[in-house]
Amino acid sequence: MKKHTNRISSIDYLDNLLKGCLGNDLYPNIVPQYIEREFFEKSVKNITSLLDALLNNPFEKVIITDTEGNIIFINEAYCSFTGLNRKEVIGKHVLHVLGKDTRLHIIGKTLKYEPCGLFHTADKNTVARRYPLIVGGKVFGVLGKDLFDNLDDLFVMAKNAEGLHKLFPVQKLTTIKLDLQNRAKYKLSDIISKDPKIIEIKNLIKSAALTTSTILLYGDTGVGKELFAHAIHKESKRVNGPFVRVNCAAIPEALLESELFGYDEGAFTGAKRGGKPGKFELAHGGTIFLDEVGEIPIHSQVKILRVLQEKEIERVGGIKSIPLDVRVVAATNRNLWDMAEKGAYRKDLLYRLNVVSIMIPPLRERLGDVPLLINHIIDKCNKSFDLDIKEVCPKAQKQLERYHWPGNVRELEAVIESAINRISRNSKTLHSVALLEKSETKPLQRISLKDFIEQQEKEYILAVLQNTLWNMEETAAILSISPASLYRRISKYNIR
Ligand SMILES: Nc1ncnc2c1ncn2[C@@H]1O[C@H](COP(=O)(O)OP(=O)(O)OP(=O)(O)O)[C@@H](O)[C@H]1O
Ligand SMILES: [Mg+2]
Repeated sequence: MKKHTNRISSIDYLDNLLKGCLGNDLYPNIVPQYIEREFFEKSVKNITSLLDALLNNPFEKVIITDTEGNIIFINEAYCSFTGLNRKEVIGKHVLHVLGKDTRLHIIGKTLKYEPCGLFHTADKNTVARRYPLIVGGKVFGVLGKDLFDNLDDLFVMAKNAEGLHKLFPVQKLTTIKLDLQNRAKYKLSDIISKDPKIIEIKNLIKSAALTTSTILLYGDTGVGKELFAHAIHKESKRVNGPFVRVNCAAIPEALLESELFGYDEGAFTGAKRGGKPGKFELAHGGTIFLDEVGEIPIHSQVKILRVLQEKEIERVGGIKSIPLDVRVVAATNRNLWDMAEKGAYRKDLLYRLNVVSIMIPPLRERLGDVPLLINHIIDKCNKSFDLDIKEVCPKAQKQLERYHWPGNVRELEAVIESAINRISRNSKTLHSVALLEKSETKPLQRISLKDFIEQQEKEYILAVLQNTLWNMEETAAILSISPASLYRRISKYNIR
């Protein structure tokens, strides 16, 4: 071996770097104490190139932050995936750059490895791996890697991993795909309430979930209709089948048919080779959730009605009928009965949807739920933002319990989250100022007292009627009015 003459002061540093890069097994146990400058420089250059190849390779999207969440490195692949400008984002906080879904700043505190979390940024869904970078026992920062450009890549991986079938014969990979794409997220216990009306609805759902009858959920915006729809599927025997949500308001009228019923190859210019199944077909064996069902244009309503009646679909441009085994859950915040009266909704479709109808009461009718919901929302925020907020101060709590909540639980979530964003990092209590700044700016419904009382009366009568399954005598008894007076009010308020 050549005799080394120059002692290099950074030898330990190089030694550690080499060990770190190559691992103890690969790292030859013969690194000398004395080393030539030329050899040292060459090694540093090699390591730099290796790191550069690792971090800047075009196949992996890498971002590194310090423990607070400030970006210290981001590679070109990550930037082109997210549309970010490398120079502009260095030094900025990830929350501002990637949005509220990011968890890198949180891992800087928890130091926990998160192998594969679903992540949404820049209108893209991906799966992210995040872990703390620990060098010499000290936390250096946090590394985030996006594993898939889109979930399709994940499905390709699952499909290619045929060996998994042998290892896990029970867990069919197709089910994994279904699970990821079309699955219900919430169960009954995720619906927070101690209100007797909601408890009764939960019981009704438990029994109705066992049939395949269509369920119509209605009620004001933000009351939790979506949660109930998911929970119905989870309670049903179809729980292992798909749960396919369709936002009827978001599909342009021209595409509604092909989205819902699919199309065959060559059905129209631009149609995919091999055709495409529609949402109904994808929901076969499971549940289809027709959200915002009041927004379906009147011309398209007849087509939906046909499917509900015949229990089969025809793809656009297709020649055969495909039988369907699908449970339909629909939701709306519109008054379909009013719409049907005015000719804006087909009565025949309404009758088909309205087999089991469930009205989710607004939050102002169950203000007793507000404290429970506040705690639930604070817990959720603590988890996702790594905070330790314990409570809302009594004054604010009182005011929140008295507010009329036109936006229901969604508004309550927004009020709490907005207050959380404005308090100092170490604070454990949300105070009235922060909370009420937001809620007090909400405009009151400007209607006369008479109209307000009538509105309440109508809602209450309807709730009792549903409660008694439209038993007139029982309803009249609960309301302490005569049956004749009840009939008069039903007709006056056009209650159906
Ligand atoms: N009882 C509840 N417990 C916990 N969270 C709730 C509850 N009700 C509603 N939420 C939350 O409130 C928000 C609004 O609920 P959801 O989206 O289900 O409302 P919606 O009735 O479908 O409203 P819209 O008619 O506007 O679509 C969601 O974030 C949901 O998680
Ligand atoms: Mg909804």
